[in-house]
Amino acid sequence: DASAEELDRRILAAKTELGDRAVVLGHFYQRDEVVQYADYVGDSFQLATAATSRTEAEAIIFCGVHFMAETADLLSAPEQTVILPNLAAGCSMADMADIDQVEEAWEQLMEVYGGESEDADGLLPIIPVTYMNSAAALKGFVGRHGGIVCTSSNATAVLDWAFARGRRVLFFPDQHLGRNTAKSMGIGLEQMPMWNPHRPLGGNDAQGLQEAKVVLWHGFCSVHKRFTTAQIDKARVEHPGVRVIVHPECPMPVVDAADESGSTDFIRRAIEGAEEPTTFAIGTEINLVQRLAAAHPQHTIFCLDPVVCPCSTMYRIHPGYLAWVLESLLAGEVVNRITVGQDVAEPARLALERMLEVKP
Ligand code: 13P
Ligand code: SF4
Repeated sequence: DASAEELDRRILAAKTELGDRAVVLGHFYQRDEVVQYADYVGDSFQLATAATSRTEAEAIIFCGVHFMAETADLLSAPEQTVILPNLAAGCSMADMADIDQVEEAWEQLMEVYGGESEDADGLLPIIPVTYMNSAAALKGFVGRHGGIVCTSSNATAVLDWAFARGRRVLFFPDQHLGRNTAKSMGIGLEQMPMWNPHRPLGGNDAQGLQEAKVVLWHGFCSVHKRFTTAQIDKARVEHPGVRVIVHPECPMPVVDAADESGSTDFIRRAIEGAEEPTTFAIGTEINLVQRLAAAHPQHTIFCLDPVVCPCSTMYRIHPGYLAWVLESLLAGEVVNRITVGQDVAEPARLALERMLEVKP
């Protein structure tokens, strides 16, 4: 195994030699050992768009997870190559909405809703909406059925877009983002049944599906579901005046108990915008929280979860993989390329383009 110093030397040498030919992107949740080499650091959406609009590099090395690299491939120029340093860096939430299960669920839902045609008011029975944190195949599915992609920062505006076109929304894969967003729009919990792909249609309450406004898919993030209201209560007792900010992938009671909720970039901006020294308790991945704490010593910033909670799949991007993909490029070999097949790419891009036209 190469030492940290050895890897550091190799990565910097390869980056220098590659120059503008390669750009390294690092997600906020990536560990510092990797982030230190990133040309851009940001949330998943910023990075996917950085990949397209701010670089002409022939290779985009995406230090994030698989769905992010797929999105970068969808939005980048055809001649650009997207590389995921470790192919095992997936996202457990994205994996919870398997495309075969989704196709099957859609068929069953069409039985309940009587097909995909518009009613007398020109509305479709249901519009599929997928969170960015999903496989390209699911984005493609959504694009083919009149649907759209959302992120944690534009979910409300995207649901408004969908309700202008359909009676209901089928929201993938994160039940928590779906529920928290719908609730903030005044939709009652009784109008948000959860579709459980492991149950047959009969086990999924057809009556509830008729009255639904948002049908939630049974997915969640294993990092964010760890946060609890007890942690928030404890933070408030121990740090009177604390500002509690959580990611909307947290369960609804946690979002309700927090002072604010928002995407990773929202959290960053909230801290950067605080003028007075403030105590922040944050409900999101630990690497981002620790980096924000180090960058803002005038504030007290800590993670709500006392047990370190990294995103274990992001963590699979080790500097050793970064050195390997960069050195391979120098040797004229592309390894770990992520490409989205043409049949999926076209409708997936359509679903992304619809989102880009929605103003948050
Ligand atoms: P962002 O879209 O805010 O980058 O979040 C990505 C993510 O994986 C959250 O769990
Ligand atoms: Fe997926 Fe959760 Fe990791 Fe984000 S933090 S990449 S949603 S597992």
